[in-house]
Amino acid sequence: MAMSNGSSGGQAARILVVSLTLAALPAYASAPRDGLRLIETAPGQASWMTEGEALEISRARHAEGKCGGYFDITDDPAPPAPRALEIPIEIYDGPANEETVRPLLAEVSADRIRASVDRLSSFHTRHYQSEGGAQAAAWIRDQFIAASAHRSDITVEFFEHPSWRQPSVVARIAGVGRNASEVIVIGGHEDSINHSGWNADPAAHAPGADDNASGTSAILEIFRVLAESGYRPDRTIQFMTYAAEEVGLRGSQAIAAQYKQQNVNVVAAMQFDMTMYPGQNPGITLITDYTNPELTRFAAQLVDTYVGVPWREDKCGYACSDHASWHRQGYAAVFPFEAPNADMNRAIHTTRDTLALLNHQHGSHFAKLGLAMAVEIGTAR
Ligand code: BES
Ligand code: ZN
Repeated sequence: MAMSNGSSGGQAARILVVSLTLAALPAYASAPRDGLRLIETAPGQASWMTEGEALEISRARHAEGKCGGYFDITDDPAPPAPRALEIPIEIYDGPANEETVRPLLAEVSADRIRASVDRLSSFHTRHYQSEGGAQAAAWIRDQFIAASAHRSDITVEFFEHPSWRQPSVVARIAGVGRNASEVIVIGGHEDSINHSGWNADPAAHAPGADDNASGTSAILEIFRVLAESGYRPDRTIQFMTYAAEEVGLRGSQAIAAQYKQQNVNVVAAMQFDMTMYPGQNPGITLITDYTNPELTRFAAQLVDTYVGVPWREDKCGYACSDHASWHRQGYAAVFPFEAPNADMNRAIHTTRDTLALLNHQHGSHFAKLGLAMAVEIGTAR
């Protein structure tokens, strides 16, 4: 694990071209049997299996203390070859809006984050196919609406998924002026799952406090502070809570694929998934695989300037969370995580993933980082 101090490339080059190399995808036949899913476990490597078999991959990896990610690509087996996206590199040129950011940071409330985690983890489950999953999404939507009722520049919507019950939720603060079409995404998954038992019973108790009521609550807090402050961004800021992450990043893939298809210019996608279990590690772990190195370096600068906690780098593995959906579509993603992988929270995906194991002060560091990034990128230079 190295501390990052690399340079972002020549100052003369003001444009950073982000491209993604994907191994050519093999041509897949349609499902050999009804109900099978196409599961990609490494770039260009996919096979047909049941949902239970896919979960078994993840469960086995977790038993080894590792993340076991995969994409369920049944609905989007061969995404178009990624286009090189052009990101004005000055976006990542270090903190430049301290006078705007500092007073907002003071508004972040660890207690509110804790209260949101308490509420979200009290749904019996937030499984993507369950009633609780749909109710949790409605509760999240209502929080966005309550914090922004006084603002006509903010819209809050469900992003519906025709194949399952739980919608994703999207709240937008519209940018003003010539940079308004550039979008910052602040996202994390709202669903939970209980992996014990074959095929993860959608009705099993799955509090998902750390995974991922914690990240969802950080997102709600960042939004609340921005909406109540009256801050008007130049770039558009979109807050998203994704459905169906726990079964192969399905909600975030649907959104990222649609944005790519509609040529939405996402300049940064920040992921919050697990933010309140530090283990023995104060500070923030920045994930370096399937993320953008320049954006990650910028996030480290923001931690130093605004959060004032140590940071380190680690890898998460293929498709471990929704940042990978954006990365796969060629967008720049960044993923600040609660702890190094070696110290991961072993209670996730069980009935023991509750607030009792968590630290809401640790969670507030992530809300501060997200808030700093939203304003630093949201404010044009
Ligand atoms: N929050 C986890 C990812 C995670 C777990 C990161 C442990 C680091 C340490 C996420 O919700 C998850 O469970 N991901 C699955 C993969 C997904 C595509 C099914 C996983 O890790 O197995
Ligand atoms: Zn999970």
